[in-house]
Amino acid sequence: TQARIGVTGLAVMGANLARNLARHGHVVAVHNRSRHRTKTLVEEHGHEGAFVPCETPEELVAALERPRRLLVMVKAGAPTDAVIEEFAPLLEPGDMLVDGGNAHFADTRRREAALRERGIHFVGAGVSGGEEGALLGPSIMPGGSAEAYAALGPLLEDIAAKVDGVPCCTHIGPDGAGHFVKMVHNGIEYADMQLIAEAYDLLRQGLGLSPAELAEVFAEWDRGELSSYLIEITAEVLRQTDAATGRPFVDVVADRAEQKGTGRWTVQIALDLGVPVSGIAEAVFARAVSGHAELRSAARDLPGPAAPAAGAAGEGFAEDVRQALHASKIVAYAQGFDQIRAGSDEYGWDVDPGALAAIWRGGCIIRAAFLDRIREAYAADPAPVSLLLAPYFTDALARAQGPWRRVVARAAELGVPAPGFSTALAYYDALRAERLPAALIQGQRDFFGAHTYRRVDREGAFHTLWSGDRTETEA
Ligand code: 6PG
Repeated sequence: TQARIGVTGLAVMGANLARNLARHGHVVAVHNRSRHRTKTLVEEHGHEGAFVPCETPEELVAALERPRRLLVMVKAGAPTDAVIEEFAPLLEPGDMLVDGGNAHFADTRRREAALRERGIHFVGAGVSGGEEGALLGPSIMPGGSAEAYAALGPLLEDIAAKVDGVPCCTHIGPDGAGHFVKMVHNGIEYADMQLIAEAYDLLRQGLGLSPAELAEVFAEWDRGELSSYLIEITAEVLRQTDAATGRPFVDVVADRAEQKGTGRWTVQIALDLGVPVSGIAEAVFARAVSGHAELRSAARDLPGPAAPAAGAAGEGFAEDVRQALHASKIVAYAQGFDQIRAGSDEYGWDVDPGALAAIWRGGCIIRAAFLDRIREAYAADPAPVSLLLAPYFTDALARAQGPWRRVVARAAELGVPAPGFSTALAYYDALRAERLPAALIQGQRDFFGAHTYRRVDREGAFHTLWSGDRTETEA
């Protein structure tokens, strides 16, 4: 029998996706550049399903039923191009090459266009959920042609996570759409993690709670509207004790957050698209600040407020922080979905944000009950100006705004950095503002550069003769 699908690149993500496919009864041809991985996979997991081990690209291609489906699971960047170059000459028109790595969507667009010329469908698929998700059910975001999705979709939907029986996989849109939304998913992931980290820091410093006590707070939050995978694992991490020292695990980990780049890309692209994703940007910058060892050590003795006494933040603070976290999270997600709409408009992808929210309910790192609220908001109004204006979120923000303001003020008083909470609140207040000081900025621009301004009461562009008699001229 010929294999239904092939997987090349058998590091943990590729191996786990191959196992997931095999466990669902699909014959999977497996290949890796260095052969030992192929051998190990089949030796250790051969009993889980039908694997066809292949030693060479030619063997792999020959093992596949036609049109061929080949999933590439290698490091994003040059390795992906190398694998494409290796396999494309062996494929035939109508075959499908799926890139399940964290590729930059611009690379995916380039690759898709080049392979389309050769009649090959290139599918850039975002895959989220980490190692465990790959094995037990990830959230899958495939881009590419509708024709390719028709041939691949059922297989991918089969191995994806399910929520209420609905697979966490849907066709996102043409060419780079899948990798674009995966990129923004990761940006949102960064923002969510940053907000949770700020909540932890504020509670620890403001209330003097231990990591073990904080684990209980997060476990409790996980039972409410914040219920999510990231809150759940936060409780797990905080509960952990370091075996070597007996200290809380979180206290023995170096406080420098690393990144592989998808969050940074999200912000870079948002700047190009002109979409304010301040929550994601602050999260990327907060990781950067944490990593600046020299700067941090040089600045260590800058004065701050007197150290707060344990419990200084007072009663009700934990609930305030919970509300502030919820409100800030709503802002960060709304901004991410704005970026998806902007990208979709820019590239003509026609991404369905409600369908996307639905497939993020399970399998992925940001999976949460919250995504169902977003799905519902888009079901009620497919094109809201902002998710913040959907009734559920407007109500939540109205309820949270008191606590949210108290927490941001308290953070400033305590000297605890809360860039995520602060920027989210600033965004909310900027949207609410009847007048923004942008008018003053326009005046400054016109003053030094004759950049002109518009008026509130008349059409046209105007310039004031700042260095002359200061009369206004129509530009
Ligand atoms: C996922 C994750 C994953 C990502 C890691 C690491 O959806 O499963 O987003 O794709 O690679 O979270 O990202 P950083 O190293 O940039 O934190």
